[in-house]
Amino acid sequence: MRLSGRNAVVTGGASGIGRATALRFVDEGAQVFVGDIDAEAGQALADESNGRIVFHRTDVTQEGDIVALLALADAAGGLDILFNNAGAGGSRDPIDTISADDWDRTQALLLRSVALGIRHAAPLMARRGGGAIVNTSSVSALGSGYAPTAYSTAKAGVLHLTRLAAADLARHAIRVNAVVPGFIATNIFTSALGIDAAGKARADGVIAHVAADAQPIRRTGRPEDIAAAVAYLASDDASFVTGTHIVIDGGLTIGTRASWDASQPSLFSILESIR
Ligand SMILES: NC(=O)c1ccc[n+]([C@@H]2O[C@H](COP(=O)([O-])OP(=O)(O)OC[C@H]3O[C@@H](n4cnc5c(N)ncnc54)[C@H](O)[C@@H]3O)[C@@H](O)[C@H]2O)c1
Repeated sequence: MRLSGRNAVVTGGASGIGRATALRFVDEGAQVFVGDIDAEAGQALADESNGRIVFHRTDVTQEGDIVALLALADAAGGLDILFNNAGAGGSRDPIDTISADDWDRTQALLLRSVALGIRHAAPLMARRGGGAIVNTSSVSALGSGYAPTAYSTAKAGVLHLTRLAAADLARHAIRVNAVVPGFIATNIFTSALGIDAAGKARADGVIAHVAADAQPIRRTGRPEDIAAAVAYLASDDASFVTGTHIVIDGGLTIGTRASWDASQPSLFSILESIR
């Protein structure tokens, strides 16, 4: 019950990582305010929560929606925690063909939304004497090959924004950190590719299979893996932690596959075979 008595806002809380985190926050004692564009799933989550989760339809590309969501927590006694998490795949076009509008839309969804969340949470938290903000970045912020260019650039921006905001807001006792998920089995892949309900079960099977084989820890990454890290960063257990991030990726970014998968040839194993 590390979050007992705290009011927490979770964006993108109707599904996946946000949903698991909202439930984890409730388990840890918080009152949670979930914002999402998916009103049906968001309201269903709230309805099952015995009043511990309040849903408010929120599009994080709209500044007014973010302000209204944060105001709910403020009115309930004060905003303590913000998890800036809502997101989707954005444009999949490569840098040599992407349109200016698609670039802007992707940045607005994944980076501007986080900046505005921090912008409008900070005064509320400062008035309350402090708070904790956690942002969702991605392993795609760390290297190529994980996600499209516009998405990955936005997620790298989220990491740097996390550091800069932590520096700016320390004087108000507001901590700002990020989580860096690896390959987590959620709806983000089927949504990005427009796979409909009929194909979803098959796609989920493929995602689970591929995800379990992608990294040295040979199981599928789960939303709950990320929720555990977010709950830590949001809690007083992390009271000396700010401006940094936790990578939760099953070792995906450790190094080349040959370094952890004995079935893959490395330069040394090839040279040894011709010695
Ligand atoms: N799943 C992964 O492998 C992975 C890896 C790294 C980072 N992430 C990031 O994690 C976050 C959560 O994604 P997820 O994997 O849980 O996917 P998800 O699709 O299960 O959940 C994303 C949620 O965000 C909501 N959303 C989308 N656009 C929105 C908007 N404009 N305003 C408000 N809500 C909006 C969706 O409706 C959905 O409920 C995203 O920021 C994503 O980029 C995911």
